[in-house]
Amino acid sequence: MPVTAVVGAQWGDEGKGKIVDTLAAHADMVIRYNGGNNAGHTIQNRYGTFRLHLLPSGIFHPAAQCIIGPGVVVNPEVLLAEIAEVERVGLPARGRLWVSDRAHLIFPHHILTDELEEAARGGSPHGTTKQGIWPVYSDKAARIGIRLGDLAEGAHLAAQLAFIAERKTALLQAAYRHERVDAAQLLAACARWYEQLGPYIADTHPLVQEALRGDRALLLEGQLGVMRDLDWGLYPYVTSSTTLPGGACAGAGIPPYRITRVLGVAKAYTTAVGAGPMPTELRDETGDRLRELGQEFGATTRRPRRCGWFDGVAARWAAEVAGFTHLAVTKLDVFDSFDVIRIAVAYRLGDRTLHAVPHTAAMARVEPVYEELPGWRRPTQGARRLGELPVEARTLLRRIEEIVGVPIAIVGVGPGRGDVIFCQEGWA
Ligand code: GDP
Ligand code: IMO
Ligand code: MG
Repeated sequence: MPVTAVVGAQWGDEGKGKIVDTLAAHADMVIRYNGGNNAGHTIQNRYGTFRLHLLPSGIFHPAAQCIIGPGVVVNPEVLLAEIAEVERVGLPARGRLWVSDRAHLIFPHHILTDELEEAARGGSPHGTTKQGIWPVYSDKAARIGIRLGDLAEGAHLAAQLAFIAERKTALLQAAYRHERVDAAQLLAACARWYEQLGPYIADTHPLVQEALRGDRALLLEGQLGVMRDLDWGLYPYVTSSTTLPGGACAGAGIPPYRITRVLGVAKAYTTAVGAGPMPTELRDETGDRLRELGQEFGATTRRPRRCGWFDGVAARWAAEVAGFTHLAVTKLDVFDSFDVIRIAVAYRLGDRTLHAVPHTAAMARVEPVYEELPGWRRPTQGARRLGELPVEARTLLRRIEEIVGVPIAIVGVGPGRGDVIFCQEGWA
């Protein structure tokens, strides 16, 4: 059975949640392997509309085991609220949701530090989600993080928290003249989290190994997209985890050779939230139209998303770096009323033509070279086979395949679970 990594091919928010919710009908296990509740994965299905921040998007399929892997950073309050949300619609998480005891905890001082540092940047913030993502991954790398498994280790935890509170107080007061971090408060919060989350905390390794040994169907649900990968994204306008499928090897515990398919998810246009270069951004009526028609407002922060044409250079680059075997192109239906659609096929930088993503500073200066295709001016939402799409829509999809160099397996024609066209065998 396939082990499929579902990876954002752009700047995040490509529709990974909807694709995972759709594919999970045939999955035995769905694993989140990176990031934290900076994610906002929107799902519309018969249970309602949800914006999942931490729970794997397979949670709506009772037969699927859901794992939050060691590479994820966990805000316990957000996780508890999300468990309650799915239980309210009649989907118990107990016994099929497991959070790795190796995953790191996000504390209030991580969130505070993220907020204060963004404020300290004055007029040029990075535009983080302010969920404490870089501070918690920094602590992990500095080896002063607290992991979920530590919640069970009373004496060790108390000693660690005392040290952390002292160090964080010193830093917060020196850097931001902020109040102190209180060790007793941290310890009390940990006791509460352990009481409520204890039944979900486990060593997830044997579960994943058993699934691999049993040749089960696994979905590895990525967070964010390649352009915001810590190593390969537009640093420093990136997140602090690996958004590539390789991240799933470390972040979920999957040997690289066991990943059989890498599905890059891309919108038929481009969006971004937060700062940094986005060559095809449209600061005009067309950009506003994409935002309105595509309802492009952040699932986590509700910020209006920056919108622009499909960036074929960035997508091709993402396909190379992440090794996509297949593409899912979402939101084709958003173009239903467009007369003309553009795709960036190269960048101009001075007198040079680029076909790859350059260093961030150069990326901020490139000018996209566009190709123009006709629109179709017909609704596509009801289409379930490629042949039901207007010929212009199929031409656009074929051009995207050619430019990115990867076959399209799935096309999204609406926000709901069933609003897809499967273009290849083995995906439906
Ligand atoms: P994710 O973070 O990659 O899961 O994506 P988000 O949920 O943040 O943003 C994607 C948005 O597009 C959500 O509002 C989805 O409901 C919506 N969406 C996903 N696929 C499609 C599609 O094919 N058509 C339309 N119209 N909306 C879609
Ligand atoms: P999903 O999984 C879109 C962006 C932020 C900011 C940068 C760093 O829903 O695709 P961070 O809080 O991680 O330190 O922010 O990354 N960002 C996202 N953009 N979708 C997301 O997640 C994002 N998670 C973070 O806007 O530019
Ligand atoms: Mg999102």
